Amino acid sequence: MALQRAYWNQRFYEDPELFGTRESRFARWTLRWVRGSRKVGPLIELGAGYGRDLRFFQKKGFAARGVDASVEAVRIGTSADAASGARPIDLAAGEALDYLKAQPTGSASVVYSNLLYNMDFTEREHLRLFQEVARVLPVGGLHCYSVRSVEDCWYGRGSPIREDTFDLRPQGGIMRFFSRSYVAFLRGRLFGKRAFTAVTEGDADFPICVLYVADVRTVGPRSTRKRPVRGSRAGGMRSAQRVLRAPR
Ligand SMILES: C[S@@+](CC[C@H](N)C(=O)[O-])C[C@H]1O[C@@H](n2cnc3c(N)ncnc32)[C@H](O)[C@@H]1O
Repeated sequence: MALQRAYWNQRFYEDPELFGTRESRFARWTLRWVRGSRKVGPLIELGAGYGRDLRFFQKKGFAARGVDASVEAVRIGTSADAASGARPIDLAAGEALDYLKAQPTGSASVVYSNLLYNMDFTEREHLRLFQEVARVLPVGGLHCYSVRSVEDCWYGRGSPIREDTFDLRPQGGIMRFFSRSYVAFLRGRLFGKRAFTAVTEGDADFPICVLYVADVRTVGPRSTRKRPVRGSRAGGMRSAQRVLRAPR
């Protein structure tokens, strides 16, 4: 986490508009599914950077709040509002899991993140994050996230760290690439598939392959402990993977 924070602080310090000032394409895609859901209440964004998508959702009428690990990103996001006189965004500096843990159960209608989960998280950390997302969402709430896919041309570059994870420094950070089967695994029994698509983003010089996921919270909090076994020492990683892994 310290490594992530230092990496992103540096990136945002060097370029305060690293991802541009407009909302992401994924934010626009998400809006379609959020508007189509029966109840739209508060939206929480994880890994919000300097808040370009948070600002977009706020303008669209959402009670949107978010968190980012980089204090530099939060400083950029909040001082831009102060300078322009715009309504300030609710963006806190901190770690995504800690932020979720501080939210009351069932208190958000949407949990959203753009290119956060493909940062340096282990499978265990992903599972903990998804459990907390499930707790914070009521049944029917949406979990929308985008992640770099295993089809991305950066997959396999740099040094391998763990499954589908590579250290791309100095060209990038530590990156976990997602397969469709990993998306399904993390969805587990807590969520159902609402929408899914694979897209190419970026420009010709730097194309990236991204998965867009919109899942719906399907079961109540009592079921959150029941997940398919994968990678558990008790269950045996290889046999569990054979059962759960679909072809890429
Ligand atoms: C690829 S950037 C995307 C930023 C933003 N979502 C956007 O599209 O403009 C990933 C962001 O995740 C943040 N991040 C990385 N690990 C995090 C963590 N554990 N908790 C919260 N934020 C984190 C980084 O600081 C960075 O701002």
